[in-house]
Amino acid sequence: MKPAARLGALCLALCCLGGARGLWRSDSHEWHKLIMVHHWPATVCEEVKKHCKDPPDYWTIHGLWPDRSEGCNRSWHFNPEEIKDLLPDMRIYWPDLLHPSPNGSLHLWKHEWEKHGTCAAQLEALNSQKKYFGKSLALSKELALNSTLQKLGITPSTYYQISDIKDALVSVYGVVPKIQCLPKQGGEDVQLLAQIEVCFSKDLRLQNCMEPGEPAPRGLEARPAASLGLEVCQDGILFYPALNKTNH
Ligand SMILES: *[C@@H]1O[C@H](CO)[C@@H](O)[C@H](O)[C@H]1NC(C)=O
Ligand SMILES: *[C@@H]1O[C@H](CO)[C@@H](O)[C@H](O)[C@H]1NC(C)=O
Ligand SMILES: *[C@@H]1O[C@H](CO)[C@@H](O)[C@H](O)[C@H]1NC(C)=O
Ligand SMILES: *[C@@H]1O[C@H](CO)[C@@H](O)[C@H](O)[C@H]1NC(C)=O
Repeated sequence: MKPAARLGALCLALCCLGGARGLWRSDSHEWHKLIMVHHWPATVCEEVKKHCKDPPDYWTIHGLWPDRSEGCNRSWHFNPEEIKDLLPDMRIYWPDLLHPSPNGSLHLWKHEWEKHGTCAAQLEALNSQKKYFGKSLALSKELALNSTLQKLGITPSTYYQISDIKDALVSVYGVVPKIQCLPKQGGEDVQLLAQIEVCFSKDLRLQNCMEPGEPAPRGLEARPAASLGLEVCQDGILFYPALNKTNH
């Protein structure tokens, strides 16, 4: 590299440090925490009406995502053979709501592995497809989000203050989750509860998703949710919709 070019590169790196903390080195695929993401089928299906067919009436896994990297190994392809033993649980707890054909979930699992799993695989505990999907299922069962919400008295067909849901989950998990909504739209009078993220450290211990005072995430971390039109819920009221079976 010519000295002038090197100086330019240095400046670029330093300038980015100020603006997009962490992103400038995303090429290194370095990440700090894992985000266990569950979504609420009734809301997802509200967003993409025509795709859903008999969505489940319980919280399902969306994915287990390292926070700041994606697509870490493009040559490590998804291989359903490797997770054969997990398929019965995968179909129950990790269905693809948008591609509901019998084998359709392969579409979601392939996407999750190639985008997120190949990065998570930097950890020995997650360094194969069997370990990545198996551990994700285990973490999901440990959280038991579906029954935890019910035990907390947080049930569908009800309006809540977002702080009530957050505080209730903090009382159980001891860490601060991140709650995402489908924003208020034309016909709706209120945002809809859509997705709940609970975070883990690299040694798979629960940790806060957002440290107090941490700025709202940008870039990589915000994108997966954004693709479905979801956002961190606005302070105030949200609606936790029931599955409208007559719709599907
Ligand atoms: C999810 O929770 C509901 C109650 O909110 C319960 O009826 C249902 O059995 C649970 N489903 C699963 C798969 O845990
Ligand atoms: C990417 O995955 C392939 C297939 O598992 C493996 O052979 C290769 O070593 C991996 N590359 C890196 C950089 O980890
Ligand atoms: C569904 O997946 C199974 C196992 O991977 C395979 O044997 C079967 O042929 C697939 N069916 C269709 C319709 O693709
Ligand atoms: C369910 O969907 C149908 C058709 O879109 C609608 O007419 C009905 O009001 C909905 N019911 C509830 C409880 O939202």
